[in-house]
Amino acid sequence: MKKAAFISLVIVGLMVFSKCTRSANEQQLQALQRQVQQLQDSLQFIREHYKPGLGELMTTIQYNHGKLWFAGILHNWPLANFEIGEIRETARAAQEIETDRPEVKDMPMLYPALDSVQAAVDAQDEKRFRQAFSFLTTTCNNCHKANHFAFNIITVPTAPPATNQQYNLAQ
Ligand code: HEC
Repeated sequence: MKKAAFISLVIVGLMVFSKCTRSANEQQLQALQRQVQQLQDSLQFIREHYKPGLGELMTTIQYNHGKLWFAGILHNWPLANFEIGEIRETARAAQEIETDRPEVKDMPMLYPALDSVQAAVDAQDEKRFRQAFSFLTTTCNNCHKANHFAFNIITVPTAPPATNQQYNLAQ
């Protein structure tokens, strides 16, 4: 009888213990859920307040497009290479960030044009660069035309987009 009483005591003890750990687990879970919610709220805030618009990303691309031209015609091939990379990066970012803008589905049309400029830069061939750059510029405009922004006409620049930068390599 004593043995039976002892066993029931142990069982009751185990039940109380398991209930305690379960409620501790539940508390931890609730704390984690609160943290996840806070992170989601912060992310939403960042998306709403810091997400660049497509027009801003395009302005960045326009800037790099202008610098690319001067780097190429002045044979600063490393700079030209860098500017192509920047355009690619921004174009890819637009595809990833601007999911609510249907126009970005046309972004892949830019990549073959960038590849031809890249090939000309790799070959350090100014003539080829000029042709490829013209193809790139036409591609910018083709996308604008296809997306009701035909009034947004990109041209080969006549002046550097920034005057506080040297485009050639000479000292
Ligand atoms: C995927 C299609 C697409 C491609 C490719 C594209 N654009 Fe655009 N571009 C747009 C759209 C759409 C807008 C309008 C954005 C808006 O509503 O603010 C735009 C707007 C612009 C603007 C106006 C930005 C402003 O706020 O004044 C410039 C400048 C521009 N693009 C430059 C370029 C250049 C340079 C290239 C090529 C290197 C290029 N774009 C390639 C779709 C494209």
